[in-house]
Amino acid sequence: MLRKSILLIAVLQLAALIAHAHVDLTKPCARYSSAPGCPPPPAGQSIDYNTNAPISSGGINTQPLCKHSVPYEKRTVYKAGESISTEYGIGSAHGGGHCQWALSYDHEKTWVVIQTEIRTCLQGAVTGQIVKIPVTIPPDAPSGDATFMWLWVNSIGIRELYSNCADIRVEGRDGGSINGFEPLLANYNATYGIIPEFPNPTDPDGHELFDARKPITITVKGSGTGAASTPDPSSSSKPNKNVASGRRDHLQSSMLFISTAIMLSLVSLCL
Ligand SMILES: *[C@@H]1O[C@H](CO)[C@@H](O)[C@H](O)[C@H]1NC(C)=O
Repeated sequence: MLRKSILLIAVLQLAALIAHAHVDLTKPCARYSSAPGCPPPPAGQSIDYNTNAPISSGGINTQPLCKHSVPYEKRTVYKAGESISTEYGIGSAHGGGHCQWALSYDHEKTWVVIQTEIRTCLQGAVTGQIVKIPVTIPPDAPSGDATFMWLWVNSIGIRELYSNCADIRVEGRDGGSINGFEPLLANYNATYGIIPEFPNPTDPDGHELFDARKPITITVKGSGTGAASTPDPSSSSKPNKNVASGRRDHLQSSMLFISTAIMLSLVSLCL
């Protein structure tokens, strides 16, 4: 009986930990967010009460980038060069980590990173806090409907990648290009590999992978044609990957999977 209750408490604690161990973008509103002031989801979609859940765990992706693909009907308008005061709801900040912010003008097919913060992003944030981070839309950003994506690689805990997207409209130049880098989707899948935990200042944190991100130029057509964009033909995709680390990650993921399976079967046996 006692053993049963202890186990039950352990399971409940684990569930609580899973429910709180997260962060999400609350301003501009992440797609279908339940945060106060966010619009209702587009027709046929429902409110996402788990916008703060990661899109991968242990190097295995569980959700696509952005989580949802149908944009909000209404977009938040920002001017090129404007600094957006982005906001994040903190469940648990996992020691902070690496953030990237990226824009897509072609419905999430191609992305250009517009801002990166290595290591210190969300560091020191506490549960319940709203963290504000200014993100600048490039001054030369062309006008058009765009997807604004936040990505986060946590420092401490199960290796995860977080992604939320907001639907915005940029008011800037009439057509043009943005030069930058493709986002690094560390911890997401075997293509990108895993960045191990980096709780101590001297721990390797994979920043060199960010330095090695592939350059990309995205181009948006001018006047009359709306927000259609053409990816630069010169920017073929070849993600940076280290074969040895890929193999190691695979091993890590398998071990995580096996240990989780063993733990779950033990729990079900005891209950
Ligand atoms: C990893 O995810 C990216 C982005 O969705 C995708 O392009 C790539 O093919 C994926 N790699 C694997 C091995 O699934």
